[in-house]
This record gives sequence, C-alpha cells and structure tokens, in this order.
Amino acid sequence: MRVIFATAELSPVATVGGLAAAAAGLGRELRRGGIDVDLVMPDYGNVALVDEVTFELDVPDWVGTATVRRGRHAEVGMLTLVSVPGIARPHPYLQADGSGWEDNSERFFRFSRALAALIERERPDLVHLNDWHTGSALAALGPDAPPTIVSIHNLAYQGVADDSWLERIGAHASHFEWWGGTNPLSGAIALADRIVAVSPHYAEEIQTPEDGFGLDGLLRDRHDVLLGILNGIDTDVWDPSSDPLIPANFTASSLEGKATCRGALVERLGFDADRIPLATVVTRLTDQKGIDLLVPLIPLLDQIPLRLGVLGSGDAALAADLHRLAAQHPESFAFVEGYDEALSHLMFAGADLFLMPSRFEPCGLTQMQAMRYGTPPVVTAVGGLVDTVPDVDRQRGGVGFVAAEATPEHLLAAMFRAARRLRTARDRTTLQKRIMSIDWSWSQPAQTYAALYADLIAAEQRS
Ligand code: ADP
Ligand code: GLC
Repeated sequence: MRVIFATAELSPVATVGGLAAAAAGLGRELRRGGIDVDLVMPDYGNVALVDEVTFELDVPDWVGTATVRRGRHAEVGMLTLVSVPGIARPHPYLQADGSGWEDNSERFFRFSRALAALIERERPDLVHLNDWHTGSALAALGPDAPPTIVSIHNLAYQGVADDSWLERIGAHASHFEWWGGTNPLSGAIALADRIVAVSPHYAEEIQTPEDGFGLDGLLRDRHDVLLGILNGIDTDVWDPSSDPLIPANFTASSLEGKATCRGALVERLGFDADRIPLATVVTRLTDQKGIDLLVPLIPLLDQIPLRLGVLGSGDAALAADLHRLAAQHPESFAFVEGYDEALSHLMFAGADLFLMPSRFEPCGLTQMQAMRYGTPPVVTAVGGLVDTVPDVDRQRGGVGFVAAEATPEHLLAAMFRAARRLRTARDRTTLQKRIMSIDWSWSQPAQTYAALYADLIAAEQRS
C-alpha cells in the first residue's frame, strides 16, 4: 500500500503545535505496520537529506517553479520536501513579531497545487491530507485520482483568501468558494472521500454551530463520511522510565524518581519545598487554550492551597499579565515564557496536577503526556479531553478532574476537588499508577487508520 501523507508540520523538521507530533507519530507507526508512507511537506529550507533525489513538477505558471527533494532524514527516515516560491521561511506561518506572514494562504495554495502534481506523477493508492494547508490539492486532482482523506486537527484555522484564487487552484475550485472568498478547508471537506477529526468527541462538536467555525453545516451534510480517531503520543519520547530530559527516571511500580523530579521542578519555579500540590501548564498562549481563565484565580491559589507553574509562548498581552501576576504572587505562581522542550518534560514529570482549561481542544496531546508521567489532568469538558479524561468522582476508573464549563468558577471547583484528592498518599499513588498504565501509543490509532486506508482502496478497486 503506497500512501502520500501531506502535512505542513512534521517533528522534528518543523514544529509549531500538536500537528507536527501527530503527523510524525502516525507516519512512523504506519510505516512500522508495513505501509509505504511518503511523508510530504513544504521545503522551508535548511533541511539536510541523505541520498537526495531532485526533480521538478509540472505545474501551472502561477505556481512558479516547483522542485521536489526526496531523501533520508536522520530522524524521520524517507522524506519528500516540496519547494515553491515563497514557501521557505524561518517559521512555517509566523513573522518575528508573532503575526502571520501576509501571504500564508497564497504560499500554501502554491504548495498544494504542487502537491496535486506530485500525486498525479506518483499515483499512490491513497492520499492523506492534513488541515487547510494541504486542502486545495483536491481542487486540481483529475477523475482517476486515488481515494482521499482529510484530517481536521484544528477547524479554527482555515486559510481563507480572496476569490481570485478560484480561477487558479483547479477544475474543482467551485467547492472552495466561501462567502465571496476561497477556503482551502471547506473545499477539502466537500471533496474528500473521508474526513477524520482527531478525536471522536471533536467529530461530534464540529457539526454544531458553537464549534463548527462556520463549517458545521457542510460537516453535517457529510456526516456519513466523517469520523473521529483519537491521536496517540510518541511513547518512546514520552517515557518516564528512560527520559534523558528529567533528573530521575521512574515507573508506575517505583515512583521515587517522580519525587526527585518534583523537587527539581519546585526549585526551578522558585517555590518552597513542601507538600502543597503543584499544578503545571505547558501550552501555546492562544484563546483556544483558555489560560486567561486562570488569571482571576491566581490571587486565590494560596487559599486552595495550590501552586501553579505555567510554561507557554504566544499572545504577548497574556504573557505580560502572567509575568505581572508571577511578580505579585511569587509564593504560589510562576511563569516561564517560551517554547522549551526540556523544561516541558520536567513540568509533566515533576507536577502533582496538569491543567488544561481549553475553550476547545480537537484532541490535545499534553493531557496524555502528563498522564504518562503520573500527573492527573484537570480539564474542561471539550473535544479530545472528553475522550481521554473521565472524571475520578463520576466514573469508576476515572483519571482526572473535569470542569463542566470553561469558566474560572468551574475551573476553581475542579482544581479544589483535585487538590483535596491528592491529600492522602494512598489516593495519590492509586491514581498515579492507574494513569501511568494507560496505553496512549500510536499502535491502536495507526491500526484504525490502516483499516480505513484498506477499506477505501478496496472500495475504489470495486468501483
Ligand atoms: P496544540 O497542538 O493545540 O498546541 P497539543 O496538546 O495537541 O496542542 O500539542 C502541543 C504540543 O506542543 C505538545 O507536545 C506540548 O508538549 C508541546 N508544547 C506546547 N507548548 C509548549 C511550550 N511552551 N514548550 C514546550 N513544549 C510545548
Ligand atoms: C491541533 C489541536 C490539538 C491536537 C493537535 C494534533 O493543534 O489544537 O488539540 O492535539 O492538533 O492533532
């Protein structure tokens, strides 16, 4: 089975959010299962490949020169990089001041048109696209194109541009027409053979006006080909028994190392060494993640009592608020601004609780990473958090603490319940052992994808 799997992000080549980890994790596991996966991404520049082969694609003039580099990447294995004018930038989407490149839609229209040419040339058995960046490839595919899947990692981003692109992107452009503009995601949703949301609950939510970001009607029309498949995490990278980025390793049956990690984290965040529960957050600072909902709670933390450490980067105004609060409440709140992989591992390993106050969350990887390190999550009841975090107080075998709504009041109540539950060592270790034994690997999700691929290919061969 030969599959072209196209993504704008892929760890460790280009990482912005969970898409990079999800694409890399799924790609690797599908390959382990014997599927010939061609990982295709934009050539952002400065990526070294071994045994490289280069060729040009046959694309319309508006795309410019489209060049493919294919070879072995030290960590990813075989990798296909597609270069079009304007795609190579220091960051896939953002300028130095944090705002998006003004020509982002255009850059990915060109990339997607080149991707369509690559698909025509290679004739794989199936094409798997991810998010809006790759969506408009479907505008240009011919009648004998292979079956197609589009994965939705985050419906909040759609890459909408003006309507002039409708004349260029391909013969099926009318499906991409969107309120006087061009929407690469709506067209992909209209045309793909299957639409996969990154968790079952998100697949339901996006069909409602509240969470559909304007595409709910279209998604309802296509509900018979829409399904949710929960992401996994890379359990080799996220493994407390061998993680080189934490000061001591540990397992569910021997948790002493977690206490060492806790001690190191308490010190790193500048807190007193005592048993007051320590909660952490590791996140992009965007509206989606709801970190602003914690702001009014920070002055109340010592009454729960709870300590909170946040590692995050993004929204500058929110970061300024968090710096100010950290200066005002140094005994209970610490903020580290930035994207820091090494520190993130310590934040998962050393904490007693992990907070995710998301307003919406297509899947979420961090709650799974936290649980792998024996850290129970406190979450809102949205998206993949519903699928991965049953509440300890409501369900037998529950794994975390769920706030019914994304409001400071509901979050405070959930944090309070969590802090109380952690009081006795027995309750604490029972929960830690339970959550550390869950299998969050890509093994099961990859089998589900492989079965979906096989079904679509078989259906195509019958028709
Ligand atoms: P999203 O993709 O919406 O940002 P996910 O939970 O799916 O959220 O994935 C985020 C990934 O990025 C996780 O692997 C998380 O550990 C990592 N991450 C997010 N913010 C930071 C940060 N500030 N420093 C280090 N790693 C981060
Ligand atoms: C997006 C979502 C996140 C999801 C990730 C990987 O970035 O925000 O919830 O886990 O994609 O699918």
